[in-house]
Amino acid sequence: MAEDPDVASRRIAKESLDRDDPSGWFEHLYSAASEGQAVVPWDRGTAHPMLLEWVEEAQPEGNGKTALVVGAGTGWDAELIADCGYVTTAFDISPTAIETARSNHPDSKAHYQVADLLAPPAEWRHAFDLVVEIYTVQALPIALQSQAIKQVTEQVGPGGTLLVIAAARPDDVPDEDVQGPPWPLTRAAIQSFTAPDLRLIQLVQSPSPTDPTILRWRAEYLRD
Ligand SMILES: C[S@@+](CC[C@H](N)C(=O)[O-])C[C@H]1O[C@@H](n2cnc3c(N)ncnc32)[C@H](O)[C@@H]1O
Repeated sequence: MAEDPDVASRRIAKESLDRDDPSGWFEHLYSAASEGQAVVPWDRGTAHPMLLEWVEEAQPEGNGKTALVVGAGTGWDAELIADCGYVTTAFDISPTAIETARSNHPDSKAHYQVADLLAPPAEWRHAFDLVVEIYTVQALPIALQSQAIKQVTEQVGPGGTLLVIAAARPDDVPDEDVQGPPWPLTRAAIQSFTAPDLRLIQLVQSPSPTDPTILRWRAEYLRD
């Protein structure tokens, strides 16, 4: 019987984490998936439903403004943002994810590139009118999350919006009890995307449609 995709991805993740290479397993997984040897559990073949909800509610009009999609995987969220009229840059640490995004969306208007959230290109700093982060920070061990959160916020330009979608962790669950990946985000972690000039303007918590015991955050921030 084929291995459950979640179990298989945790096994691949554990090998990388044991080697102290917390992002290395993504390339192994996407590369195995591109050869039909694995399934990427989060690859929905469509934009994230909470991103779709936000687009329906907020009706963002890109009109040539710039957007950055963090940890873009195979590109479904980036395509939605590009279709809203944003000049969209979408990046991922996995070269195979980026190749797959390009081949999934051959007529894409988004620019796909390999980059590391923990060491992003200097020219991205404060350069984007919209930054979309879905499930990347929670895919990193808790010890790296504050650095990752800081890098997500650093890319939001003046007057820009940051949208974060993440699985939620109850405040009373201590770090050592979380057997990641993923390592879902507490309310305090969601608050830590703020800065004096980057305010949390909307926070929604809703259950996953496939597993109502999993709660998810949708947080929107605005930079002055
Ligand atoms: C759980 S997946 C989520 C993918 C996508 N955002 C989604 O919601 O379907 C996390 C993504 O982050 C990427 N990633 C992990 N570490 C990264 C890093 N340091 N820099 C950029 N991307 C990273 C992975 O390759 C993977 O595509």
